[in-house]
Amino acid sequence: MNTVAVVTGAGSGIGRATAEIILANGGSVVAFDTTAESLDWLSGNDNAVPFVGDVTRQDDNRAAVQHAETAFGRLDALMLNAGVPASGSIETLDMEVFDRSIEVNLRAVVLGVRESIPAFRRTGGGSIVITASATALGGEPNRWPYAAAKAGAVNLARSFALDLANDRIRVNAVCPGPISTGMTRRIEDNTPDRYEALKTMIPLHRWGTAHEVGEVIAFLASPLASFVTGVAIPVDGGATCGSGQTVPVPAPA
Ligand SMILES: NC(=O)c1ccc[n+]([C@@H]2O[C@H](COP(=O)([O-])OP(=O)(O)OC[C@H]3O[C@@H](n4cnc5c(N)ncnc54)[C@H](O)[C@@H]3O)[C@@H](O)[C@H]2O)c1
Repeated sequence: MNTVAVVTGAGSGIGRATAEIILANGGSVVAFDTTAESLDWLSGNDNAVPFVGDVTRQDDNRAAVQHAETAFGRLDALMLNAGVPASGSIETLDMEVFDRSIEVNLRAVVLGVRESIPAFRRTGGGSIVITASATALGGEPNRWPYAAAKAGAVNLARSFALDLANDRIRVNAVCPGPISTGMTRRIEDNTPDRYEALKTMIPLHRWGTAHEVGEVIAFLASPLASFVTGVAIPVDGGATCGSGQTVPVPAPA
């Protein structure tokens, strides 16, 4: 499939894995991240264009879409994946941390969708996939700035799916559970006990990989998902499928 996609946060983790999957399947990618170095992995690939910018800037969202149309002739898919972690005490956290989480994890999704609509109309439709989080589906201690933003991102996906259906633009979200990426490396490095303990909360007994999330994003962006819009798919090893009143069945010895 020769999908033409813009992928935000493509310099690391889930975004990079998603871009790699699109390219491996014969597609083309505008890879959007904050630094040129993070996009060095693209060098030598004629089907990939690095774009250095900030998803919180409306102009940068517009320019990334223009790059796709200029370099590859159209836009088929937009993966709004860039995100930042945010956590702290409700009593003491600097509200700037909350504001930044809302700006990157939620408001930038609005900008990305808004700036892509004219290009999708020129294509005759397309697919938008928002990387939300399993944290969007329930509360977590101290993670309210992230949980609020990601829950909002899920309801943006549902709302935009309704607003854009007549333009044949599908809008969906993925809700990853614990995935080993740049964002979670500090948990693995600094609190190895917590890293291991989280596995016991996951029915599949492990952390996921960026590639496993990227494959679901690529599916949602592809014609294989042509009748899927307005959904938020957990990619979490079963972490959110329980009632919360039990612990997962232990791993076999
Ligand atoms: N790793 C997990 O366990 C996990 C779980 C649930 C959801 N997520 C979400 O998945 C998405 C990808 O995260 P990841 O785990 O791959 O993390 P990551 O840190 O490895 O990658 C995120 C990328 O987004 C980029 N980015 C951040 N702010 C940006 C901005 N303003 N403009 C442009 N790019 C920006 C970063 O530079 C980075 O390259 C995020 O939205 C994150 O919230 C991750």
